[in-house]
Amino acid sequence: MNKFEGVANTLFVPLVARIAVSKEFPEYFYDKKALELEPYLPDDAAKGSSQYSNMASVARYYNMDRMVTAFAKDHPECNVVYLGAGLETAYDRMHGKLPGVNWFEADLPDVIEARRKVFGQRERETTIPGDMFRMEWSKQVDNSLPTLLVISGVFQYFHEEDVVSFIQNCRVAFPGAEMIFDATSRFGLLYTNWFIKRTGNTSALMYFGIDDCKAFAKKCGTVLLEERTFFPDALKMLGKKLKFMTRLSMKTAERRKLVMILHLRLSQV
Ligand SMILES: C[S@@+](CC[C@H](N)C(=O)[O-])C[C@H]1O[C@@H](n2cnc3c(N)ncnc32)[C@H](O)[C@@H]1O
Repeated sequence: MNKFEGVANTLFVPLVARIAVSKEFPEYFYDKKALELEPYLPDDAAKGSSQYSNMASVARYYNMDRMVTAFAKDHPECNVVYLGAGLETAYDRMHGKLPGVNWFEADLPDVIEARRKVFGQRERETTIPGDMFRMEWSKQVDNSLPTLLVISGVFQYFHEEDVVSFIQNCRVAFPGAEMIFDATSRFGLLYTNWFIKRTGNTSALMYFGIDDCKAFAKKCGTVLLEERTFFPDALKMLGKKLKFMTRLSMKTAERRKLVMILHLRLSQV
């Protein structure tokens, strides 16, 4: 049974990572829904992945889940909008604990069609097909409610001018809202593109990197609320349970700020 027909192979990379880490390190991250989806993955879905690449993927969810939870606790009735949501299972990880959140997931039409087949229709969840850069999705989100936009594993594939103008458009559509997204440093892009070539997905090379988060936030007319690196908790919690090379890569990523999550306030225009 192929529930994922029509879905690009790159989409499986983060799901494979959530499954692998949920099995290996459930004390750090556990995603029940991702584990349920394992039988539907193509045989070669894990091609090219490593313990480090899985940890790098999952550390995004680990940190972003905490940021989403903090936002929802501060704003008990709010919107959380995942743009380029892919096969994200955040709703399944958090909906039960955050009953006042209206969840949205936007992605390209093929992906939303697959999501609807896989997940069905659920309460307080809206799926929106379309190109997120065209902003049509914003009409379905009530901007009078506190809103958090979450963009995970997406911007890297675009060019800086597209990302900056997209964030500026979000400022207009959601004045005062907040946004979180992950970014790789320009040096980090070199390593990541090497990894992507190993998976054989040369069409998924990355172009957009950030070295100075504050300057980038300013360029977009936004305020940098937080800049967090990925691995402090994972290193503390898992320590020597991680392979030596994984630990070394994580420590290097921390020291050189190769990957981070930016948290912005979209200031009033
Ligand atoms: C690497 S996946 C990340 C998926 C998910 N956010 C996660 O972290 O698991 C990138 C996603 O961005 C989506 N995407 C790419 N371009 C898009 C666009 N112009 N509009 C909406 N989604 C887009 C892809 O379809 C894919 O689902």
